[in-house]
Amino acid sequence: MARIAVIGVGYVGLVTAACFADLGHEVTGIDIDEGRIRRLRVKISPIYEPGLDALIGRNIDAERLHFTTNYREGLEGAQFAFIAVGTPSGPAGEADMTACDAAAKGIADAARGSIIVVNKSTMPIGSGDRLEAIIRQSGTESLDARVVSNPEFLREGTAVSDFFAPDRIVLGSTDTEAANAVAELHRPLNARILLTDMRTAEMVKYASNAFLATKISFINEIASICERLGADVKQVADGMGLDGRIGRGFLEAGLGYGGSCFPKDVRALEFMASVQGCHPQLLRAVMEINRDVRRTAVQKLREVLGGLDGKLIGVLGLSFKPNTDDIREAAAIEIIHLLQNEGALIRAYDPVAMEHAAPFIPSVDFAQNPYELAVGCDALALVTEWNEFKELDMARIRQAMRTPVLLDGRNIYDPHRMAELGFTYLGMGRSAPAADPIAPALAP
Ligand code: UDX
Repeated sequence: MARIAVIGVGYVGLVTAACFADLGHEVTGIDIDEGRIRRLRVKISPIYEPGLDALIGRNIDAERLHFTTNYREGLEGAQFAFIAVGTPSGPAGEADMTACDAAAKGIADAARGSIIVVNKSTMPIGSGDRLEAIIRQSGTESLDARVVSNPEFLREGTAVSDFFAPDRIVLGSTDTEAANAVAELHRPLNARILLTDMRTAEMVKYASNAFLATKISFINEIASICERLGADVKQVADGMGLDGRIGRGFLEAGLGYGGSCFPKDVRALEFMASVQGCHPQLLRAVMEINRDVRRTAVQKLREVLGGLDGKLIGVLGLSFKPNTDDIREAAAIEIIHLLQNEGALIRAYDPVAMEHAAPFIPSVDFAQNPYELAVGCDALALVTEWNEFKELDMARIRQAMRTPVLLDGRNIYDPHRMAELGFTYLGMGRSAPAADPIAPALAP
């Protein structure tokens, strides 16, 4: 059993803290947000993450999980201090290290004796060295702090299961003993452990996210070509994915990637590369395609409606992906702004994200369910592929609408069936409705 402090109890830190506590460790989450800490102490989670509430409640009851705003209290007797604070994009795309620097300083001021500082947040290459220097310069003589990079690979919506069943644990440190101590923490997860230096570990994280974003922009480019040549991008992706070297994952064409990671991490990597004199054309193209795909969606609606001014558009889904309330860089927010910019009226529904989204989409009406959303709409835009949208009574939806235009932003509906129901179906790279496909779709 170890005593662990986790600095920053947001999407990554709170999952990390609760999961390590569930493994039997004594964990204290530290955050500067007093309201967040106060609510966590009475088991109110600041984020919607399947399975997390139960983990928090169970481990608070077992007195393994604590929360505080006080670094000294949180670091008391801790052998490990995980830094899990945000690294948002700065104006030029660079990762803002303000919170990380403050966390390192807080550790240096409050920690005593030996401690291993574990960089869990996604940090620019070289950050481990930077934070090590801050701690060394600010810490007392009695502090023996060693730094290990341990980037997170948690997906929102599946973060708890991703923690307990990781594909790999990446550890970066020149101090083998410190790296092995962090490896030991992760031993119960039975995952492959890659031990390397800090800069390489930091780059594994950026390169992994940038590659996944590249897959998404690649299939979105293929989707736009499919549209013009009459091919169906979903079946193209099926065919590609049967090649073990390619893999089917992250080949879902649609409205592109959002969230707090891919957009930020691709921008940060492009920035780091550019300031080092590289010319990251591919990363720039990935970002450009991702931006353009949202504009293409708006263009489809504009063309089929003969203009957007005064048209009522129903938006199904606001979160950047299903099973989360996170709307950071969500396609829906950008698309709503683009539609409103041309005079469209917006009504929106999302199972959990409406409260978070409201401040960012003023003058949007909210419906309480998809059927209420559809009433009188000139078009419906499926933006986030929540499961509850997949088996809607589409005939009822069609009846409620003023004009039966359906933009399927995540290709979750069958074009032929939608056409049969009388919709003008707009997919993302779907072949125009034609004869039934020759071969049934691949078994799920
Ligand atoms: C991502 C990485 O997957 C995770 O490993 C990393 O730790 C954090 O960033 P996350 O951003 O939570 O996780 O969500 P993810 O499931 O990766 O989806 C990211 C975005 O890509 C979402 O907006 C999603 O809608 C979009 N996406 C995903 C696609 O457009 N097509 C796909 O095929 C897959």
